[in-house]
Amino acid sequence: MKNTKKSKAKGAKATSGNKGLRGRDYLSVDDLSTAEIKRILELTADIKARPKKYRHSLDGKMMALIFEKPSLRTRTTFTVGIKQLGGDSILLTPADINLGKRESVYDVAKNLERMVDGIMIRTFGHDICTSLADHACIPVINGLTDLEHPCQAMADIFTVLEHKKNLKKLKITYIGDGNNVTHSLMLIAAKLGTTMVVGTPEGYKPVQSIMDRSCAIAEETGAKILWTADPVEAAREADVIYTDTWTSMGQEAEAVERRRIFASYQVNAALFSHAHERALFMHCLPAHRGEEVTDEIIDSPQSVVFQEAENRLHAQKAIMLELLRE
Ligand code: CP
Ligand code: NVA
Repeated sequence: MKNTKKSKAKGAKATSGNKGLRGRDYLSVDDLSTAEIKRILELTADIKARPKKYRHSLDGKMMALIFEKPSLRTRTTFTVGIKQLGGDSILLTPADINLGKRESVYDVAKNLERMVDGIMIRTFGHDICTSLADHACIPVINGLTDLEHPCQAMADIFTVLEHKKNLKKLKITYIGDGNNVTHSLMLIAAKLGTTMVVGTPEGYKPVQSIMDRSCAIAEETGAKILWTADPVEAAREADVIYTDTWTSMGQEAEAVERRRIFASYQVNAALFSHAHERALFMHCLPAHRGEEVTDEIIDSPQSVVFQEAENRLHAQKAIMLELLRE
């Protein structure tokens, strides 16, 4: 809810460094420093281990959850997560607000900042998310845009850490379409000093701006961010093999063409055999079994996809707690 400290609207929002994460947005992994990411990961571990300790941490706080695309995990984990912290949420779908059509993004921001304490938004253009955050004086969290999926990346790295201790010695490989999930994973790998290899067809690389930014961060942290069109080269000696749908939400018209283009990037037993013997398999879900991954890989003992999904809950509780705490 609007409070005097943050009621000056634009420009009043806390920025990196002045008061920890309180009052800040989480729109991109790049909104956080390495130390801030590590702090959220530590808090995630404590929340997962001792959930009751946090049951009044956000008493009375209200989140607006805006969904312009479908969701199982993000919707459930934000709804349950804020409840478990003592707060509550309201769901806003296109049928309710029709963002940018029934009402401008600016007007939605100026209304919601007087009614709730934080906003999570899942939308198409990343600019919609940044515009909402620019105009609302309450924290805005990106629950997936066409460019990034930063809450997913936080939960993913937390999951990796539950199995492998030293991120600086790992090779995380992403194979498939260079998309929102890839982008956030590249940025978080770069921030944490991890080697990440992205294997995509030439025309489906991660966007150049994210590639450049990840490489620039990597220069400072000792990470390596690499790209190849060869899925076997990408998979070789990987500690983690990650994939995602070949057709993201909003790209449905390209599905048939994409299935043809990505066929040799399927994560199956043959491709997985090039990875480290104890490599993890990861996927943000929803999975399209028989397309980007086969049943034998996603259902194998090395697959951690459901643990990864559960960790969305713990990681997002940590994120909401850091951003919304008094
Ligand atoms: N991984 C993920 O964000 O899942 P949903 O699309 O179901 O929220
Ligand atoms: N890349 C996928 C992720 C779904 C969680 C999409 O945007 O549809």
